Amino acid sequence: MLSYSLPSAGRFLPLLLLLEQLIVPTVWALPSQAQVISQKSFNVLSVTKPPTEVNGTNVFIPPGSTLESLLERPFHVYDDEFLGILGEKPHLTRIAHSSKDPLFHEAVVWYKESNEVFFVQNAGSPDAGTGLNKSSIIEKVDLEEVAAVTNMTNAVGHVKVQTVPSSPMVVNPNGGTNFRGNIIYGGEGQGDNIGPALWVMSPKAPYNTTILLNNYFGRQFNSLNDIAVHPKNKDVYFIDVTYAYLQDFRPSPGLPNEVYRFNPDTGAVTIAADGFIRPNGLTFSPDGKYAYVTDTGSAKGFYGNDYTKPASIYRFDVVEDGTLENRKTFAYVSPGIPDGINCDTQGNVYAGCGDGIQVWNPSGKLIGKIFLGTTSAGFNFVGNGGIVITAETDLYYANVAAQGAYVESEM
Ligand SMILES: *[C@@H]1O[C@H](CO)[C@@H](O)[C@H](O)[C@H]1NC(C)=O
Ligand SMILES: *[C@@H]1O[C@H](CO)[C@@H](O)[C@H](O)[C@H]1NC(C)=O
Ligand SMILES: *[C@@H]1O[C@H](CO)[C@@H](O)[C@H](O)[C@H]1NC(C)=O
Ligand SMILES: *[C@@H]1O[C@H](CO)[C@@H](O)[C@H](O)[C@H]1NC(C)=O
Repeated sequence: MLSYSLPSAGRFLPLLLLLEQLIVPTVWALPSQAQVISQKSFNVLSVTKPPTEVNGTNVFIPPGSTLESLLERPFHVYDDEFLGILGEKPHLTRIAHSSKDPLFHEAVVWYKESNEVFFVQNAGSPDAGTGLNKSSIIEKVDLEEVAAVTNMTNAVGHVKVQTVPSSPMVVNPNGGTNFRGNIIYGGEGQGDNIGPALWVMSPKAPYNTTILLNNYFGRQFNSLNDIAVHPKNKDVYFIDVTYAYLQDFRPSPGLPNEVYRFNPDTGAVTIAADGFIRPNGLTFSPDGKYAYVTDTGSAKGFYGNDYTKPASIYRFDVVEDGTLENRKTFAYVSPGIPDGINCDTQGNVYAGCGDGIQVWNPSGKLIGKIFLGTTSAGFNFVGNGGIVITAETDLYYANVAAQGAYVESEM
């Protein structure tokens, strides 16, 4: 048995006070890439407009700011708590751009072993021509290449984006996460006869794939979306929602929009939660106690928006047996919808929204943003405070102090 004797804090009090004076100002200094946004400053606006003019599609520019000034220092501090997340030198780098075809959509997955980051193209995007005619593709970047350019703001052209030739090809992948040394994808399917499926892909050449699940007691799913592996019970929780139908590449849906739970060892598929309009993103808190599910009911794919429907994040308790209970409304976002969602190791919640990444503390208070001025559907922590962000025509790398809650893929 070891025994420690801890020095009493009292003996060191004068030193601690001195240190506090020295340290506190540095800790709270506003980083050069950050700016404070005071919600109080726009509680009362001189003019407000009707929803036909200002609604969930408009990026909000607070009075006294311009889009340029908001982009110039993209780390927006809504609460001092965000400074701890940012650290001393947060930085944002644009690492790739595609002029039209939305190539950088969702399912950002860091594969630690090769230090590569995988993500997928937008399925069902008219600009990309994906969906019915051709599947969206999987792509990757090498974080070593990214590391060499993180002191730049615009590093477009310096980082190779490589297509990953999955085989057989994952059909219209949308959500993805680490799974037992591989990557598991929720595929949305294609047309009447290629049903949605859970695919597992080896993250190493030849990127071979295996389908784990493609039906619910013989019935096709609607179109699979986000996936998360619970950090303790390691079951695969996934979302089925009608977006492929709302983007004209799947038939009229035959199941409710739901969250399912899948045990890959026994094959058991069970319902985890329903009662959503259009569930979309899914993640767990790092301790596994909470599940966060986004409902993007306000977005109807090719059929417009209904701003009276949710653009919301719901939190559930995950009980001992892995079932979800106590649904609580956690956040309602503006602008846009909360799509991809992840927690950091402290349990703060991040979601891709209509103006970039928004961040809430565990009580649901907005504490900050990584402001892009445009929609981000996906992002993920990629080690060392790095966050790779997909924003359709742009791919970003943000460097902060917070770390992601990485779920080890091993059983
Ligand atoms: C939302 O606002 C935009 C203008 O910013 C407008 O074009 C659009 O029609 C509005 N949507 C609705 C449903 O009113
Ligand atoms: C599919 O391809 C056909 C023929 O090239 C084209 O006319 C049609 O617009 C495409 N559909 C989509 C959704 O891209
Ligand atoms: C970034 O670092 C590289 C190599 O360390 C250097 O060549 C380059 O000039 C730096 N760029 C900026 C914008 O500081
Ligand atoms: C890929 O192929 C290897 C070699 O046959 C096999 O061991 C592995 O299970 C396959 N992985 C997937 C995800 O299909």
